[in-house]
Amino acid sequence: MSNPKIISFSNQKGGVGKTSLTLHLSGIIEEAGNKVLLIDLDPQGNLSSFFLDNIYELDKTIREVLIDELDVSCALNKTRYANIDLLPANLTLSDLDAKLAGSDDAQYLLMDSISDIIGNYDYVLIDCPPSLSRATKMAFVTSTHYIIPIECQEWAVKGSGQLLAFVDTIKRRANQDLELLGFVINKLSGRRKIESEFNEILRSTYKDKVFKTELKNAVAYTEAITSRMPINYYSPKSYEAECFIKLFEELKLRV
Ligand SMILES: Nc1ncnc2c1ncn2[C@@H]1O[C@H](COP(=O)(O)OP(=O)(O)OP(=O)(O)O)[C@@H](O)[C@H]1O
Ligand SMILES: [Mg+2]
Repeated sequence: MSNPKIISFSNQKGGVGKTSLTLHLSGIIEEAGNKVLLIDLDPQGNLSSFFLDNIYELDKTIREVLIDELDVSCALNKTRYANIDLLPANLTLSDLDAKLAGSDDAQYLLMDSISDIIGNYDYVLIDCPPSLSRATKMAFVTSTHYIIPIECQEWAVKGSGQLLAFVDTIKRRANQDLELLGFVINKLSGRRKIESEFNEILRSTYKDKVFKTELKNAVAYTEAITSRMPINYYSPKSYEAECFIKLFEELKLRV
């Protein structure tokens, strides 16, 4: 367990499924016998509140690790799942950009601060905020791979161009090995013509960089989140869990 896959889930558009993909996949990956570290880099703390109670009372979060040089082991939280650990975030992380303004080395802070513990994990999944901010930059500098959850809408094509350009700069300057695992099409309704048009545009633009597995807009995913269980624990035999299993199969072929 010395070279974990470090995967960022990123899209500057809000609500496309970064957090739900991170948390459902963490369940699938853990159930397959892997040790998983989750890192919440979003001040909204959605990933953290899925796994922990009262995240607003936490005083040892990823913020203290990044800004106050708290030892990372102090911010590490166990979860209900023996092989899933979490570095949480809450609203206090929103001053990250201001605190680190002017520091050239800030992009390396995350990578440096987790270096002592990542050897304990097979997968590190990073949930990014919906912005091309300093936190997102740190995530890309730290990652071996990234996934772009996306919805089949007009904005998707334009927005992903912006995101890829942002990553390109980081690749050139700080992390040339960073690799796009692919776009994951999420929240498909399967009813709108415009949706299949954008699906085709995405697939013809990005070709095999779009995962074959697509995720439907399904109430099971939101119910699972409300019950605070990844989909494979909430409804193990369901079609929705099966989709995530397939997604992980594809992911393993791509890393
Ligand atoms: N496939 C899906 N089917 C149904 N609901 C979904 C699906 N994917 C995500 N959702 C719901 O959509 C909302 C937004 O999803 P999520 O929080 O994962 O997006 P996000 O990209 O992390 O958002 P943000 O940018 O705010 O961090 C949530 O309520 C989530 O439960
Ligand atoms: Mg989110």
